Amino acid sequence: MSSATGNIGNFTTVDRAPDASWFIDFMDIANALPEYRAMKDDLNATLGDIAGRTVLEVGCGTGDDAREVVALVGAEGRVVATDLSETMLAEARRRSEGSDLPLEFRVADLSGLDFPDNSFDGARAKLVLMHCEDIETGLNELVRVLRAGGRLSVFDYDFDTTIVDHPDEAATREVMRCFSDAHRNKWSGRQLYRRMLDRGLQDVTVSPHTVVMPFEFFRTLAAGRLKTAQENGELALTGEQLSQWWQPLLAAQEQGRFFASFTGFVVGATKP
Ligand SMILES: C[S@@+](CC[C@H](N)C(=O)[O-])C[C@H]1O[C@@H](n2cnc3c(N)ncnc32)[C@H](O)[C@@H]1O
Repeated sequence: MSSATGNIGNFTTVDRAPDASWFIDFMDIANALPEYRAMKDDLNATLGDIAGRTVLEVGCGTGDDAREVVALVGAEGRVVATDLSETMLAEARRRSEGSDLPLEFRVADLSGLDFPDNSFDGARAKLVLMHCEDIETGLNELVRVLRAGGRLSVFDYDFDTTIVDHPDEAATREVMRCFSDAHRNKWSGRQLYRRMLDRGLQDVTVSPHTVVMPFEFFRTLAAGRLKTAQENGELALTGEQLSQWWQPLLAAQEQGRFFASFTGFVVGATKP
């Protein structure tokens, strides 16, 4: 993975990044984390029985999840997978080349979906709403395009659940606050339940998923954000103190003792 660790906050502007392939590599690493298997299975199960149904996957990225959903809808069903980024969709199309799947990729901004009301039997959004500039509109759009009885299935992290084992409690609290604050919708995970209820959705289900972060993954996620926050005066640590803060973590990694995790929530709901 490149050192472009400052990129990570910009999942809404992938196509304008100097190295857009960095986002593809990052998602491949994230999606390969062992806990993601259970989370993806939970997201899919939360959609209910979708055999023969039409399902929308928003913010599909490289399309790997969409291909899994295709397997669930079967030959009689259909999956429409959308993303804001042409780069992501080009990769998604490349990975689907040569297959004859009922899967269509389309450029679409979640905040203004080009689909009629009540078009889909199910809709799925993994790690997307937490990046959206307007999360309320994004959710409204997902609900709008869902048919009555259709099931919505969403996963987002709650970044205030991020923990790391570090000897300096006070500095770590400050660093973790700053890390969380650097995310656009840092509390999306905890807010999804209420947001579904606010929209009159029914049968709302919530299941937490904690992901253990390997050191390199944690560093990729946090280092750029923390550096930028420190330079902008948003972190109550000097540059020297911040680089000192990383030292015990590097040592822990060398000794096989590094531990960090964060928690997100699969939230499902039915449109009445
Ligand atoms: C963290 S990635 C997740 C990709 C995929 N869902 C996965 O889990 O592998 C976020 C994706 O959402 C897309 N995205 C961000 N904002 C969006 C928006 N407003 N509408 C549609 N897609 C968006 C990004 O281009 C990116 O592909």
